[in-house]
Amino acid sequence: MAQYDVVIIGGGPGGYNAAIRAGQLGLKTAIVEGRGKLGGTCLNVGCMPSKALLHASEMYDLAANGEFAKLGIEVKPTLNLPQMMAQKSESVEALTKGVEFLMKKNKVDYVKGWGRIAGPGKVVVKAEDGSEATLETRNIVIATGSEPTPLPGVSVDNVRIVDSTGALSLPEVPKTMIIVGAGVIGLELGSVWRRLGAEVTVVEYLDRICPGMDDETAKVFQRSLTKQGFKFQLGAKVTGAKASATGAELTFEPVAGGEPQTLSADYVLVAIGRRPYTEGLGLDTVGVVPDKRGVIANNHYKTGAEGVWVIGDVTSGPMLAHKAEDEGVACIELIAGKAGHVNYDIIPGVIYTKPEVATVGKTEEELKAAGIAYKVGKFPFTANSRAKINHENEGQVKVLADAKTDRILGVHAVGPSVGDMIAEYCVAMEFGGSSEDVARTCHPHPTRSEAMRQAAMGVEGWIMQA
Ligand code: FAD
Ligand code: NAI
Repeated sequence: MAQYDVVIIGGGPGGYNAAIRAGQLGLKTAIVEGRGKLGGTCLNVGCMPSKALLHASEMYDLAANGEFAKLGIEVKPTLNLPQMMAQKSESVEALTKGVEFLMKKNKVDYVKGWGRIAGPGKVVVKAEDGSEATLETRNIVIATGSEPTPLPGVSVDNVRIVDSTGALSLPEVPKTMIIVGAGVIGLELGSVWRRLGAEVTVVEYLDRICPGMDDETAKVFQRSLTKQGFKFQLGAKVTGAKASATGAELTFEPVAGGEPQTLSADYVLVAIGRRPYTEGLGLDTVGVVPDKRGVIANNHYKTGAEGVWVIGDVTSGPMLAHKAEDEGVACIELIAGKAGHVNYDIIPGVIYTKPEVATVGKTEEELKAAGIAYKVGKFPFTANSRAKINHENEGQVKVLADAKTDRILGVHAVGPSVGDMIAEYCVAMEFGGSSEDVARTCHPHPTRSEAMRQAAMGVEGWIMQA
């Protein structure tokens, strides 16, 4: 029977980064993964394939919608959807192989199969051929991730009524597509199919898109999506959906009351959130009980059971790959007797649409609710020279800073490349930086990053380029 310091169940960004850190710290480590490939949701059916399609569809859209012509490049693009899907799959395959290489490099045993906790210090792994092996270990790290939340009354067949996994591999461009849920998945994957030619209608329960996002920022974003052709049915409660051979019909009624309505489309994507995944995990054998939503609680990644730890989507906090990754590192450092730590106040969120949306820290609504006095600096991309020259001038950057100390409390941006540029504010905030720190830092010209700086200047009222 193999004896380990750490057995990690789940090979996603939480699990594989935990495994790498454990290997680096000299812990004898195994990672158990059931899907046959490492990388979890993120690499296989999440972050990476969605970004592959977002990139390719953006290129197609630029060529097809006249943007290239505006630059003096006359082309008539033809969509080759099988090739678009093939390049996505090839990139994903290369990335999962890369993670497998990193396991070898860090002397981590990759155990293929579904893992089940069978009491303290024991993980039983069932391989594809049905055979079982038992791993003995001092520590178990649960990193089993999440799955799409089902919508009562709507059964996902992944043919006409699809979840995010189905929407990443549609066999054709829908003429019409309904998306249930105006969240991150709906708006990213809706963008992919809209760019390729679908008419997209988003049906959302709340009266706004992207709940939790800074209100003004969500409005700027929604305006831009509407301009691109997105239609929104907000405040709509879905009551059912029926698939046929050629499409699907969705029924909903206004949340505020009123007549039920029916919409028909070639495909329906259900994207109303994700829930923790713990099926068949044997949590009862160590006395771990998830809450009503399936979340396994943690105290510095410790569950209530001795030697059983938990990280990533399956525990509390935002369901993001970089959050899972940081928890993996911190958890292993704690196991190794080091001071592992994650700063939950500074976890950025990005929506990889065009324009991108990037946020970190507190929203205006949160600051108001907490009674914190703040100042605002705002800068529009219309006044950023690089964005203007590239015809990408939609959006704005907003910086929120403490009214007394000038400490940066939140940044909310819509615009080109803001997903990459938000990291500058994450670093500034980790150092307890002020808006003046960013405002007085020399930024290269001409770059979009100057908009990030000008917004910081705006906090003290000395914006120079607008
Ligand atoms: P997962 O990645 O879900 O990995 C868990 C793994 O555990 C899975 O591979 C599963 O097969 C395995 N597993 C489960 N149970 C067992 C068991 N008993 N035995 C063995 N193996 C098991 N996040 C971002 O930060 N940026 C993005 O751009 C982004 N895009 C996304 C797009 C989509 C369409 C989706 C669906 C998600 C996206 N996410 C994104 C979210 C991101 O994928 C997750 O937050 C992240 O994958 C969570 O990592 P994890 O390690 O906790 O779990
Ligand atoms: P989400 O939580 O972002 O959005 C779900 C939306 O559905 C919300 O607007 C919600 O109000 C709405 N909704 C809930 N129930 C509904 C109902 N019955 N009818 C109509 N609308 C309803 O969840 P989503 O988009 O499914 O994404 C899941 C997770 O994956 C997110 O938590 C996100 O963190 C992660 N993700 C991250 C990405 C990124 O970082 N770029 C990309 C994609 C996913």
